[in-house]
Amino acid sequence: METFRRSLSRRGLLGIAGAGAALTTVAPVRAQETTTYAPPTDPTTSTVAERDRREEWWHEARFGMFVHFGLYSELGRHEWAMEQEGIPVAEYQELAKRFNPQPHAARAWAKLAKQAGMKYMVMTTKHHEGFCLFNTKLTDYCAPKQAAGRDLVAEYVEAVRAEGLRLGFYYSLMDWHHPDGARCKTDEGARRRFVDYIHGQVRELCSNYGQLDVMWYDVNWPLTPEGWEAVKLNKMVRQLQPNILINNRTGIPEDFTTPEQQIRASSAPWEACMTMNDSWGFNRGDDNWKSPKTIVRNLLQCARDGGNYLLNIGPHGDGTIPQPSIDTLSSVGKWMDRHGELIHRADNCRVKRSELAAFTRQGNTLYVHVHAWPGDTFGVGGLKGKVLSAKLFPSGTPVRFQQSELRVRFDGLPQTAPDPIATVIALEMDGVPEQDNLAVRTNRKRESV
Ligand code: GLC
Repeated sequence: METFRRSLSRRGLLGIAGAGAALTTVAPVRAQETTTYAPPTDPTTSTVAERDRREEWWHEARFGMFVHFGLYSELGRHEWAMEQEGIPVAEYQELAKRFNPQPHAARAWAKLAKQAGMKYMVMTTKHHEGFCLFNTKLTDYCAPKQAAGRDLVAEYVEAVRAEGLRLGFYYSLMDWHHPDGARCKTDEGARRRFVDYIHGQVRELCSNYGQLDVMWYDVNWPLTPEGWEAVKLNKMVRQLQPNILINNRTGIPEDFTTPEQQIRASSAPWEACMTMNDSWGFNRGDDNWKSPKTIVRNLLQCARDGGNYLLNIGPHGDGTIPQPSIDTLSSVGKWMDRHGELIHRADNCRVKRSELAAFTRQGNTLYVHVHAWPGDTFGVGGLKGKVLSAKLFPSGTPVRFQQSELRVRFDGLPQTAPDPIATVIALEMDGVPEQDNLAVRTNRKRESV
């Protein structure tokens, strides 16, 4: 913790949020949650200093694309359908005989990610259903040996690299298809076989695709980290991929924590992962899409509190992206074209309070991202320090302002929002911007009229 604090200040970051700070629930967390993920603390198979060095690109990246793709994409009823609908293995695996996405479908994903201002991607190489998108010697239940007839992970890797993005693999430990996937809990022989299978596949993923930047495990049911031999597993991963970042979902803390469907800042590095509707895998009937504005607000909150935002797409079975995701990410991308530097180079920011705006900071400059544009005038209360100038970003148009002890007030603003997603006012201050949330309530003059 101390070392992390130091490393943050070395990187010019100030004011890390304490554990438990800034919890925002933005979508329902599912009852299907079966894993308690490792708490934010120092990595198990790395030093903090090494982690900080390996993580430099990732902090600056801030924004990544998650891709949930598998047989459930062909089914189109959510990636948990096999379990939640009680579909027998023999029936479910028939999907592998028709799942055959368009060649190089991943190129459109990577292009969209880049256009949206994202800097890395993480794709499901094997989800809980057990079907492997990669070529594995350890099972025939994999894309190259079924209808697709080719390695879909290799296509994804090529697409990600072609766009100059960093490369991540999601890999589910829980497996609903493998014969030992449940009995490994009570049968030592089954555990041995299953753990060898999992370690063997992770070894393949870390050996066959060149440099890998992120290993993103998921659900460690039904074993403990000891049962998974998680320390040994991650030591192997680091040996094969010395610069890799590893998440916490084997159950031991490693390089970052993974708050899901919520933005929860912690003292250790964190990445909030989130869906664009309420499903990770393609779900035909789920139309509960987030707006571009909501997505930008979430991203701003992550940037403000020093975290990353991993935002999901769930392509159709043929690999094409649902149109609402394309439209929304294209709008987000247009906003990122003008404002991306405020996200990628954000320092932690302690100014938080406004119902109209979100805040980010770079050095002594406070960026006020107004999502609920008021027209003409509004204010920010409790700012400490002196505002030296106020300008619209990126145009540089001066904004009229007055500062008194408790308020900075802007006026003469355009009636309609210059940017419908979030219009940014840059405030140059005489020091690191801070806000005292109680100042207005405590110190306002209360004389009666
Ligand atoms: C959960 C879900 C899963 C999804 C993942 C993403 O663990 O089981 O379907 O892949 O979270 O964070």
